[in-house]
Amino acid sequence: MAALSSSCSFIFLLLLLLVLFTSPPAALARRTRFLHLNFYLHEINLGVPNSTMIFVVNENRSNGFGDVVVYDNVFRAGVSPDSPLLGREQGLGVGSNLQVYSGLTALEFFFTTGRYNGSSFAVFGRVPAGGISDRTIIGGTGRFRMARGYILGSVAATTNTTTTWEMNAYIAAHRRPRH
Ligand SMILES: *[C@@H]1O[C@H](CO)[C@@H](O)[C@H](O)[C@H]1NC(C)=O
Ligand SMILES: *[C@@H]1O[C@H](CO)[C@@H](O)[C@H](O)[C@H]1NC(C)=O
Ligand SMILES: *[C@@H]1O[C@H](CO)[C@@H](O)[C@H](O)[C@H]1NC(C)=O
Ligand SMILES: *[C@@H]1O[C@H](CO)[C@@H](O)[C@H](O)[C@H]1NC(C)=O
Repeated sequence: MAALSSSCSFIFLLLLLLVLFTSPPAALARRTRFLHLNFYLHEINLGVPNSTMIFVVNENRSNGFGDVVVYDNVFRAGVSPDSPLLGREQGLGVGSNLQVYSGLTALEFFFTTGRYNGSSFAVFGRVPAGGISDRTIIGGTGRFRMARGYILGSVAATTNTTTTWEMNAYIAAHRRPRH
């Protein structure tokens, strides 16, 4: 009886160890952390002094089709232009819709301060003509290595020269990035 119960315990322990250490979802979950980042992207519009974006190609069509724009925007903790700087969003957008003004973007968000200083994540996807943009986070560097997720954007404030977007990024990334 004692031998049976101890061999049962042994088998149970073995199964537990197998589940804990070999099952891919469990192993992955232990190495993954989930983050929600909220920040504000500050753009100075095309064609105004000190614009943070420039036309590389301007086809001058109402739907923007074929246009190529390069961006170097800052993102900050708040909607106010003097709220703390967090980092920069750099990359490009291509007018890619024949029906409405809409484009495909390929961008990197990189942090220049705070706990993510020096780390970045990459965003790829379409910005629709209005409403909320929902784009894919396709990877990252530093603390965002192995990142995947999505980022939502919606206009939070405008002036005649600026557009400010509220951004919410939902990221799954490596818990302890190795160097
Ligand atoms: C553009 O930037 C320069 C240099 O930072 C600054 O002196 C100037 O006031 C800015 N102009 C506008 C319209 O913001
Ligand atoms: C852009 O298109 C508008 C309307 O089609 C036209 O009036 C304007 O001259 C064009 N501008 C350039 C720079 O081609
Ligand atoms: C961010 O990192 C850079 C490069 O390591 C460093 O020079 C800079 O001082 C850091 N900035 C802050 C605010 O921590
Ligand atoms: C934006 O509005 C300000 C006044 O609020 C005005 O002085 C400025 O000329 C306008 N800029 C443009 C590009 O329309």
